Amino acid sequence: MHGARWLVILLAWGAGCRPSSETNIAARPLEPPAAAVDLDPDPGRLEVRLVAERASDGSYRYSGARPGPTLRARVGDRVVVHLDNALTDPTTIHWHGVGVPNDMDGVPWVTGTVAPGESFTYAFTVERAGTFWYHPHFDTARQVDRGLHGLFVVEDPSQPALPELLLVFDEPDEGGPHPIHGHGRLGTHWTVNGTETPVAHRLVESGRMRARVLNASNTAYLWLESSDPSSLELRAVAGDQGFDGGPREAPVLVGPGDRVELELGVRSAASLRTRRWSLNGGEVPYAPAVELVRFQVDTTGDLSSSPDWPFSGALPTPDVARTDVLWALMGSDRSGRWTINAEVFPNITPETLPLGRPAIVEVRNMSPTEHPFHLHGFVFELLSRNGVAPPFRTIEDTINVRIRERLRLRVTPERPGDWMAHCHILPHADGGMMTVLRVPPQP
Ligand code: C2O
Ligand code: CU
Repeated sequence: MHGARWLVILLAWGAGCRPSSETNIAARPLEPPAAAVDLDPDPGRLEVRLVAERASDGSYRYSGARPGPTLRARVGDRVVVHLDNALTDPTTIHWHGVGVPNDMDGVPWVTGTVAPGESFTYAFTVERAGTFWYHPHFDTARQVDRGLHGLFVVEDPSQPALPELLLVFDEPDEGGPHPIHGHGRLGTHWTVNGTETPVAHRLVESGRMRARVLNASNTAYLWLESSDPSSLELRAVAGDQGFDGGPREAPVLVGPGDRVELELGVRSAASLRTRRWSLNGGEVPYAPAVELVRFQVDTTGDLSSSPDWPFSGALPTPDVARTDVLWALMGSDRSGRWTINAEVFPNITPETLPLGRPAIVEVRNMSPTEHPFHLHGFVFELLSRNGVAPPFRTIEDTINVRIRERLRLRVTPERPGDWMAHCHILPHADGGMMTVLRVPPQP
């Protein structure tokens, strides 16, 4: 699927022969992450076994793979995952962005942990199509950084079929404490499915591809753009929770824990890259670009037109003058204390919302640092940023909150339970920037 092997070898040889300041090692091909094996022949059921284990180099893996095996289901499928914990520390799996019952959410505060040598079976039905992921929720920063994370794709067969690239971005071994000053950290040593700056190929004559992107980094932000839009077209067609009202043009922000789906149009060789953009006083790039994936063209043909993506075209729900929950993100690197409403998890006061009734959650960033805010259990609609509504209806589970920004979110708590809300810069979350939304079983 990823281009003939000999071509890759030729390309690598070509790169080696050119006196190039950029490349003196053979370019490595982009390989897709491992695919999870479905143990159940029933088409409506995905059954998978994942072993959390320690590799000989000390990293952690799911079933020997880093990133972990990709789970692929269809909307409406029953998903059953057996987790075997072969580590020497406890672990759990959280299904980031997937609406699951509270006792399947993988949060120690709710269900405890899976002890070393023990197993647990997660089972739930997937209700929304989108690009999700899974990772532990115990000692989270360390376990995710060591390699426990994988993609979870939920397909909707009615969507246009395009060749797909799966891109899991990570900065391996971010190691110790990462002070994050001001705007989010721009990573400089990204890996893509475990390889630094791999080479991808235009997969089809039409040149159009769909890329499902996950930022699995603990702390670093991606701002995706094309090195040359006339060679490589790039726009975001779907976010965390599938298709929204419309597309978004580059640069495309993907914070830690966030996902995006890109439509790529490859005309000629170019690269997907990241750099930091300032949003204060207009969008201005202020960091040098870091190359992420190089695209090569060995199948030529005219670039086809964009497929008919299922954008809803819907406008944002009008905001209302009411706030049910107010969460202020606070803290600083200087104090090393990260809080929500000045409380450090687990010493927090849960907020309570009634089951099934739309509620307004306001998230204010009162700290000198950006934070990717994530809510478990439910999707939310972005109503406004600093009072300005987005151009179209936008449904997310993870959203970046800029410095001094005020986000208004509309949430319908459809499932009872205790649901975490936290920053997805994992050292912030482990440092206490985490709270709980409580939804009692009776409205
Ligand atoms: Cu991806 Cu509570 O986390
Ligand atoms: Cu944070």
